[in-house]
Amino acid sequence: MKPNPSLPSADFYDHQPIRDQFPTLKQTIGDHPLCYLDTAATSQKPQAVIDAMTEYYQLNNANVHRAAHQLSTRATQQYEAVRQQVAHFIHAKHQQEIIFTHGTTESINMVAYGLTAQVQPNDLILIDTAAHHANIVPWQELAKRTGAIIKPIPLTADAQLDINAYEQLLQAKPTLVALCHVSNALGTVNPIIDLIAMAKNAGALTLVDGAQAVAHLEIDVQQMDCDFYVFSGHKMYGPTGVGILYGRFEQLNTLTPMLTGGEMIKTVSFDRTEYGELPNRLEAGTPAIAEVIGLGAAITFLQGLPREQIKAHEQLLMRYLQQQLLNLGDITLYGVSNDNSQSNIGSVAFNVANEHHQDVGILLDQQAVAIRCGHHCAMPLMSQLKLSGCCRASIGIYTNKHDIDQFIHALNTVKELLL
Ligand SMILES: Cc1ncc(COP(=O)(O)O)c(C=O)c1O
Repeated sequence: MKPNPSLPSADFYDHQPIRDQFPTLKQTIGDHPLCYLDTAATSQKPQAVIDAMTEYYQLNNANVHRAAHQLSTRATQQYEAVRQQVAHFIHAKHQQEIIFTHGTTESINMVAYGLTAQVQPNDLILIDTAAHHANIVPWQELAKRTGAIIKPIPLTADAQLDINAYEQLLQAKPTLVALCHVSNALGTVNPIIDLIAMAKNAGALTLVDGAQAVAHLEIDVQQMDCDFYVFSGHKMYGPTGVGILYGRFEQLNTLTPMLTGGEMIKTVSFDRTEYGELPNRLEAGTPAIAEVIGLGAAITFLQGLPREQIKAHEQLLMRYLQQQLLNLGDITLYGVSNDNSQSNIGSVAFNVANEHHQDVGILLDQQAVAIRCGHHCAMPLMSQLKLSGCCRASIGIYTNKHDIDQFIHALNTVKELLL
């Protein structure tokens, strides 16, 4: 991608009424308005999410499923209504295919643990080189338990998944392919439907990490035809502490539960325990009830937005952000396709000349600009890029052109200080 000073700075969607719903963004730090460009780490929360959780604690606080009193009935109804909502949101076939977890990390661990009995020594597991550690380490643990072999799917020189190399690897008939939908470090987007179709042709199970996709893209797990799709509430304007494991019913039903105990059983005696049906068999213990209700409010919030306009706005912002960075000079962008054929989603990764990413982050913070610096929980990707780390600026539905301008102005000051 080349610098282009003539890129449009107008035509952004006027979404001030949406931004106004995020109380955190109304603050100043020092003399500067907060410029939050760390949405890929966690998004800010709209008032509707905060209110839904407060209302649960103020009016309906009770445990779900077990008691025969009205508070519990209300809490259970709200909790189960969110399951239905999530199923609808990602176009799952049955609501029993939606398991509430504590986040993407737990969801992947549940699948990796749950498959232990089905994986044999020398079975092959393919993992996207751009994967987050949450989509690497649980598979390594599975390999330790079973004797399976892990191979990374290589990337091309511009950090896109290498389809030819993938095709070659699939000839060895892997048992499972673990992909990311959108890379958290670079914002690159995988052609997920094609990748899954190729894996299925080779007879592999597929798990897609959608943590960075679900807030930006319409997700249709049936169209995607994946076996598992996982994401976290806190990256889609919902609370921390709740996530989703979607699984095709037949696949979920064969997973060995990672957690056992109350809620997930049909009968228990000291001789024998019989597990309950899905989804309960994979939801042992008291769930994160308020957080699930908050997630439901986040989905309602997202569904009430003009998604196409927001998508166009985010795409324009991303291009503006990339171009403004390049126009600044002394900036290297990572994971941007050379011919501009692939657009990134949500995140832009960069470094300033040879300066340490952490120094850049600290100096930006002094100007109230929040970005993330480091390896972004993607050390194999960083080593492929021959980097110890980089800076990442990431946007959300509340980000506006002023944020980008404030960031670029602050980065220019950092450059003047450092170079
Ligand atoms: C692509 C991706 N996968 C997994 C995770 C882990 O998510 P969580 O910490 O919510 O479990 C993240 C978080 O940054 C992510 O971006």
